[in-house]
Amino acid sequence: MIRNKSKWLDDEPEKNHDADNSGANSTYFGYQLVSQQHKARRVLKHFNKVAKQYDFMNSLLSFGIHHMWKRTAVRMLALKEGYRILDVCAGTGDLAILAGRRVGVSGLTVLYDFNRDMMEAGRAKVTGSDCSGALVYTQGDAAMVGFGIRNLTRMRIGFEEMHRVLKPGGKMMCLEFSKPMAPLFRWLYDFYSFHIMPFLGELITGSRTAYTHLPESIRTFPLPDALSLMLSEIGFSAVTYRRLTNGIAVIHLAEKEKRTTTE
Ligand SMILES: C[S@@+](CC[C@H](N)C(=O)[O-])C[C@H]1O[C@@H](n2cnc3c(N)ncnc32)[C@H](O)[C@@H]1O
Repeated sequence: MIRNKSKWLDDEPEKNHDADNSGANSTYFGYQLVSQQHKARRVLKHFNKVAKQYDFMNSLLSFGIHHMWKRTAVRMLALKEGYRILDVCAGTGDLAILAGRRVGVSGLTVLYDFNRDMMEAGRAKVTGSDCSGALVYTQGDAAMVGFGIRNLTRMRIGFEEMHRVLKPGGKMMCLEFSKPMAPLFRWLYDFYSFHIMPFLGELITGSRTAYTHLPESIRTFPLPDALSLMLSEIGFSAVTYRRLTNGIAVIHLAEKEKRTTTE
């Protein structure tokens, strides 16, 4: 029963290679093929429902490990004082706060999200942090997205836009869920994802659907090699990835090509 519900993209390799695996106006919402407009509405509604408990649920469901993943991901960007950073799908701002600490008051961290409730839920945390500051954006030194790219109706366009707003030599970091490597661990993770998570989600946020969609959307997200290929096709160079916690989460790092002196 659990195995039926857990369908990773390497069970269907052709989908893994076409990472925006959908038709012209359709896209995946979990396992469901839906219209792009439908997905955007559902994602917005989903985060409206969970916004207030979002931080608490993250810590509960990940046993707090998401903090470690986020610290590792931001550390890998090797940010320096004065850098300008864009946090895409910033939500309640965890990555932005970590980046803000590194770039200091001479730097700038822009939080971007389409959900007001999520940003409000994190506002006190952001403004109360030791790195709150002005929010303006020009060409950036780094762009990052944490657990957000899965929600986009057109993920490739999302990455293309990050590539566009980066300055030459700027870095992109994507922290996202993926497939655990060890079969036994994966089995436990599947059980946890499809039984414990929806149960706790319903108990605490009142939304079982939101926490059923989560494991499904993780399984329809491209596996690390396919995502690396997409980033290279978009024009990123030096694409690498690192698995965390047996592959439950993966950090992709990439660079916008530096300009040659003749350009
Ligand atoms: C799982 S949360 C991640 C929040 C935060 N980055 C973190 O790591 O905790 C995903 C966020 O992506 C935002 N989001 C989803 N689709 C979006 C879109 N098309 N444009 C901007 N933000 C979007 C949601 O509103 C939500 O806040």
